[in-house]
Amino acid sequence: MKVEFKTIRLRLVEESDAEFILSLRLNDKYNRYLSAVNADVEAQKSWIRKYKDDEQSGRQYYFIIERMSDGQRCGTVRIYDFLADSFCWGSWILNEDKTRSAALESTLLVYEIGMGKLGFEKSHFDVRKDNEAVVKYHQRMGAEKTSEDDDNYYFEITKEAVSRAREDMSKTIERMSKGR
Ligand SMILES: CC(C)(COP(=O)(O)OP(=O)(O)OC[C@H]1O[C@@H](n2cnc3c(N)ncnc32)[C@H](O)[C@@H]1OP(=O)(O)O)[C@@H](O)C(=O)NCCC(=O)NCCS
Repeated sequence: MKVEFKTIRLRLVEESDAEFILSLRLNDKYNRYLSAVNADVEAQKSWIRKYKDDEQSGRQYYFIIERMSDGQRCGTVRIYDFLADSFCWGSWILNEDKTRSAALESTLLVYEIGMGKLGFEKSHFDVRKDNEAVVKYHQRMGAEKTSEDDDNYYFEITKEAVSRAREDMSKTIERMSKGR
């Protein structure tokens, strides 16, 4: 499964991505609001091998975000927890090799896979309360808070909300890719 937009594409994670994933997950710039992972490369490889069973049986998909211009890896994103009409996404990280529109493109691709290819009506995800930029990002796109606990807000976004946001976001992506 490979899905591309304007400047980035998603491709499924391989065992050989273990070092790259760890370099993101162990970097304090990116991991403040993410769950901790074991720092051992072999443990990461073994996690990916186990994940591949889930991928085979269609229970979750873990993607590397790559630049289309040169194939440089610049992030990760994962879709999982498939319920009757909703899928969850997370493990979303972009490093300094991202393109300007990588956040918008990867978000639209995630929804295209979840709501297009996989046929879900909506998506659910949680964001740490103090990850304010990301909370705002999702609200700006049309996600609604459904509940909260001490640490997290829980969000939902419908297929209709994504459709409403898509055109504007695509125009922004176009503008960004032309450097305007
Ligand atoms: C979360 C993460 C992947 C988001 O990527 P990002 O590049 O920081 O995303 P931004 O919020 O800067 O958005 C990218 C651009 O799209 C713009 N944008 C955001 N939402 C938009 C919308 N609905 N319509 C149009 N433009 C929008 C932003 O203004 C920004 O533009 P700019 O570069 O001109 O300022 C990244 O910050 C990251 O890796 N964070 C650490 C890990 C993390 O917290 N992950 C999330 C866990 S829930």
